[in-house]
Amino acid sequence: MPVERTLSIIKPDAVEKNRTGAILAHLEEAGFKILALRRTHLTRAEAEGFYAVHKARPFFGELVEFMTRSPVVIAVLEREDAVNAYRKVMGATDPAKADAGTLRKLFGSSVGENAVHGSDSLENAKIEISYYFPGSLVSPTA
Ligand code: PPS
Repeated sequence: MPVERTLSIIKPDAVEKNRTGAILAHLEEAGFKILALRRTHLTRAEAEGFYAVHKARPFFGELVEFMTRSPVVIAVLEREDAVNAYRKVMGATDPAKADAGTLRKLFGSSVGENAVHGSDSLENAKIEISYYFPGSLVSPTA
């Protein structure tokens, strides 16, 4: 399996509940290296740009409100098969449907407030990493 990088965001609900350290420890236990880490309070423009693909969805306004409510912690993660492995560790979008032991089951509370975001493909991981960490870190050979 090739070594890949993916983007993780610990969302406002989890940061507010002081679960950042617990989530990062869970990721290290799962074999991810944390290559970059940034705590930031997203602006409306940053959140709207990041989620632009969902602009036409009925929940877009709610999603942007939530992601700008308080700080997030954004990380670049590296591991073999990182994109798929992180999505397994995250669990289903809706915490009620997520498998036991996944981050969303452990730390999420609803389909909107679901604790973590992860890139859904290697292509999008590259786009998302460069959105928050411009000019570096996009792939293991960068
Ligand atoms: S899709 O079609 O699979 O891409 O959509 P999905 O993964 O279900 O959701 C995309 C992101 O939108 C968030 N979401 C919501 N936010 C607020 N309210 C509602 N009802 C809602 N439904 C979905 C969901 O948490 C996803 O956020 P990210 O950050 O991508 O995980």
